[in-house]
Amino acid sequence: MASESLTVTDNRTGKTYEIPIKNGAIKATDLFQIKTNEEDGLVTYDPGFMNTASCQSKITYIDGDKGILRYRGYPIEQLAEKSSYLETAYLVLFGELPSQSQLAEWTHNITYHSIIHENIKKLIDGFHHDAHPMGILVSTVGALSTFYPDGKKIFDAKSRRDQTYRLISKMPTLAAFAYRHSLGQPYSYPDNDLSYPGNFLNMLFKMTEIKYKPHPVLEKAVDVLFILHADHEQNCSTNAMRSVGSSQVDPYSSVAAAAAALYGPLHGGANEAVLRMLMAIGSKANVPEFVKKVKGGEGRLMGFGHRVYKNYDPRAKIIKEIADQVFEVKGRNPLLDIALELERIALQDDYFIKRKLYPNVDFYSGLIYQSMGLPMDMFPVLFAIPRTSGWIAQWEEMLTDPDQKLARPKQIYLGAETRDYVPIDKRK
Ligand code: CMC
Repeated sequence: MASESLTVTDNRTGKTYEIPIKNGAIKATDLFQIKTNEEDGLVTYDPGFMNTASCQSKITYIDGDKGILRYRGYPIEQLAEKSSYLETAYLVLFGELPSQSQLAEWTHNITYHSIIHENIKKLIDGFHHDAHPMGILVSTVGALSTFYPDGKKIFDAKSRRDQTYRLISKMPTLAAFAYRHSLGQPYSYPDNDLSYPGNFLNMLFKMTEIKYKPHPVLEKAVDVLFILHADHEQNCSTNAMRSVGSSQVDPYSSVAAAAAALYGPLHGGANEAVLRMLMAIGSKANVPEFVKKVKGGEGRLMGFGHRVYKNYDPRAKIIKEIADQVFEVKGRNPLLDIALELERIALQDDYFIKRKLYPNVDFYSGLIYQSMGLPMDMFPVLFAIPRTSGWIAQWEEMLTDPDQKLARPKQIYLGAETRDYVPIDKRK
């Protein structure tokens, strides 16, 4: 008997099965042979994919217990310190750090695709002034598929590369235009002389000056935040990207689906929810009362806890350092004291210790964005921009993996047995 296998006895039938184990996993379809009748094989029941690997991947590694995050083998701490977002995006997408000429070509291609069609601008104009920018982003990135019908050629590597340039390049423009729309301000067009984060700041904040000069500390802070958010293996939005992409739709539609998944408060919307929570708490003195309520089941401590990390999220550590640098330039965010007190109390409290709930990436990122002058509803948008590189890398990996199929989970049907239609006048 192979040692890399699982022996299972079905107590309903007394039959024994040997199921191979590969890379620490059994194939769920191998369980289908375990049957009590001709039709129904055994299935696994796993809402929320708590213990189901949906793919094999070479992109991002997380050890949630140890608080480790690596892209293509490189520790996040090293990338945050030494790399740039565009270089990291290249690494995430193509598997290796670029050479100098590769990076120059990549940067050129991303820079020169940043303008959006004027009709997309008109589409943004059509939104109400207080439309949530994430709603605008989801709509406009989906709409890009109608401008680039060649995006449908998903099995053509050259076409995939073109859509990659467009998506990574245009997401900041869509995001910044959504922001300017909410302020009723004229759109600020991309400036190709600036870096990726510098240009984003230019599109957000340029007023009447001829040339916008990003503050180097803020430019660096945005770049590092983008690196930290580039990928995070099979999270909810990435799963949406892969799942929708498995229908072989174009990448713009899949990115729209992924961005929609990111919008929710349990995922990328958490940074916005953290700020709203901190404001609702109001002062350091109210923290113990708030924590008591959370423990009593009244709401959650937003920005705490993670499906994978059962230790301090390594991204949260790095963000805390950037926060200090940004506060030096922009002044200390008064909500920081409430956040620090929450962290202090929660990390000593049995409820949080027992459940291994630590601050996650969203706990401090919102404070930085707010200090930079961005409104809360822009926070998930700031998550979506850098995550686009991860979504595309995961999408491409899915498309080129011969094991992958149309995503279509099973269900366990517990509804009514067959019954006859009752005319409306005969119903009780
Ligand atoms: N505050 C209070 N209790 C919590 C929290 C929290 N933030 N998170 C989990 N718990 C409790 C939960 O009530 C449960 O307790 P019990 O066993 O007594 O029922 C236990 O911890 C396990 O929680 P769970 O909901 O089964 O765990 P999960 O893995 O499904 O949840 C999570 C992960 C991120 C949805 C959750 O921790 C949460 O809601 N956190 C707040 C929202 C948040 O910050 N989200 C951002 C995640 S990081 C960004 C990203 O990658 O998307």
